[in-house]
Amino acid sequence: MTTTPTAASPLPDNLDDLRERLRRFCAERDWAPYHTPKNLAMSVAIEAAEIMEHFQWCTADESYSLPREKRVEVANEIGDVLLYLLGLGRTLDIDIIAAARDKLALIRESATTGKPVPWVQVHKVPDYVYFNHSAHVNRGVSCVECHGKVNEMEVVRQDQPQSMSWCLDCHRAPAQRLRRPGDVFNLDSPTLAAQGKLDEAIALVHNWKVKPPQSCSGCHR
Ligand code: HEC
Ligand code: HEC
Ligand code: HEC
Repeated sequence: MTTTPTAASPLPDNLDDLRERLRRFCAERDWAPYHTPKNLAMSVAIEAAEIMEHFQWCTADESYSLPREKRVEVANEIGDVLLYLLGLGRTLDIDIIAAARDKLALIRESATTGKPVPWVQVHKVPDYVYFNHSAHVNRGVSCVECHGKVNEMEVVRQDQPQSMSWCLDCHRAPAQRLRRPGDVFNLDSPTLAAQGKLDEAIALVHNWKVKPPQSCSGCHR
């Protein structure tokens, strides 16, 4: 016979009272030295295994309809797990209810959005370097100038050294490397200089007052 799980009776909203009784019980017996996070973490796992033991050879149906004595034993083990979790939360100063709520929110998020595709980062400047995309793209520096022809790469790789001297080389003479603003997303468009229109690029530098930082504090803020 299959019995579906029934809604359990309401649980108390907080476990403060239980935790306090546990704390007093342990304090009266001087158990604190044994209740290290390591020992408590192991105890959680051991007691959880004891819950499993009662179901080891059960069929799914049988697991819903344990004999009365078995249910009492399972309840004991569940109590043990909860007490050890409370103790572990206390020694580590973790609010176990808040932890469970946060975890549930994460599970819900990943269930509704589907598993996120992990992002493989290829381009990364060190944390001590300040870099901002829009400052470049809005001034005629195209994606292809720094990332190469990503559209033709089977697997994205780093195309440019991204070293300090590479940044500075362009900052010292940006006109050579600029495109018309409308061309920055077009990975096939050559620089203005390569089109024989360096004058136009120099005019852009002048009109936009392009002055990329060359002093240390410009990139190391
Ligand atoms: C002036 C050089 C430059 C330009 C122009 C530029 N990028 Fe970048 N890009 C970088 C650098 C440097 C990083 C690494 C940034 C970091 O570590 O924060 C980066 C990182 C990225 C990343 C993350 C890469 C990764 O491996 O995780 C993406 C995506 C990206 N850029 C897309 C673009 C696109 C699209 C454009 C054009 C609209 C563009 N970039 C223009 C220099 C540039
Ligand atoms: C191909 C040319 C080019 C390359 C490569 C380049 N830059 Fe720039 N950078 C520019 C231009 C053009 C500007 C815009 C300056 C302006 O508007 O005055 C700029 C502006 C900046 C700014 C000022 C942004 C702001 O918000 O004030 C910083 C910081 C910067 N670049 C850092 C870097 C770093 C770090 C690298 C290397 C990882 C790099 N740049 C590579 C051309 C380049
Ligand atoms: C245009 C941007 C830019 C400017 C200006 C700049 N840096 Fe850097 N710096 C970088 C970048 C990008 C890196 C990281 C290079 C890398 O990862 O290979 C870097 C790395 C460094 C490092 C670490 C080097 C290493 O080998 O680990 C030092 C130190 C440093 N910069 C000092 C300076 C000093 C001093 C100045 C001024 C004279 C300066 N930087 C100006 C962009 C800049």
